[in-house]
Amino acid sequence: MAKRAVGEAAALLVEDGMTVGLGTGTTARWFIEAVGARVADGLHVTAVATSLASATLAERHHIPLLELEGRGVDLAVDGADVVDPDLRLIKGRGAALVRERIVASAAARFVVIADESKLRPGLAGVVPVELLGFGVHRTMALLGRTGAPFTLRLDANGLPVRTDNGNLIAEGDFGAIADPEGLAAEIDAIPGVVGHGLFLGMAALAIVADGAGAVTRMEPGRVLPPYPDPRPHDEEVT
Ligand code: A5P
Repeated sequence: MAKRAVGEAAALLVEDGMTVGLGTGTTARWFIEAVGARVADGLHVTAVATSLASATLAERHHIPLLELEGRGVDLAVDGADVVDPDLRLIKGRGAALVRERIVASAAARFVVIADESKLRPGLAGVVPVELLGFGVHRTMALLGRTGAPFTLRLDANGLPVRTDNGNLIAEGDFGAIADPEGLAAEIDAIPGVVGHGLFLGMAALAIVADGAGAVTRMEPGRVLPPYPDPRPHDEEVT
């Protein structure tokens, strides 16, 4: 209910003629479905998908897909694993973090959608990192010096997960992250790292819902007032 509510709310931000970045995951899926419903009703958009899975879903809904062009996209919408009050995010449980970052950073407006279980007072938990297979042991050793032991993410058969880019995913559980910007800079500086799941200073708006589907909007550092009451005046209780 919450994931669907935020996906549908975000789809209302899409305007005719926009190029839209389509995120990845179980929340972004609802956004893609809702955009698809609007396309079926006559909305004209083009889209850039952040994963093969999202591209497949978009195609199923007849959402025209493009390669990411130099001018970027008008709006990108994606889920997150952790959202803090400044809209700093941890992403990447779906292993699409590198394409997600490329698209989010290319967006005039990046909107994160999440159920309220993703909200935390500060960033904490597992940080995924995409890395090249070449030099993996050395890269893992360097990642291990950033403050958490890292392990490779394995699939159900015990084999290393491969991303859509053919790379590996390592994960380190940091617990509470006191200095996300410092940690991001440290990880970025490691040769062999392609990208990480710390998305800092990127999201302009969060759309969050509770289990009953009640939607709240947040900008960095503040919760926005609820949408105006849509009832006509004569329905107002006096
Ligand atoms: C994909 O790589 C991720 O960044 C997802 O956007 C994130 O893990 C949130 O996924 P859910 O919406 O499935 O919780």
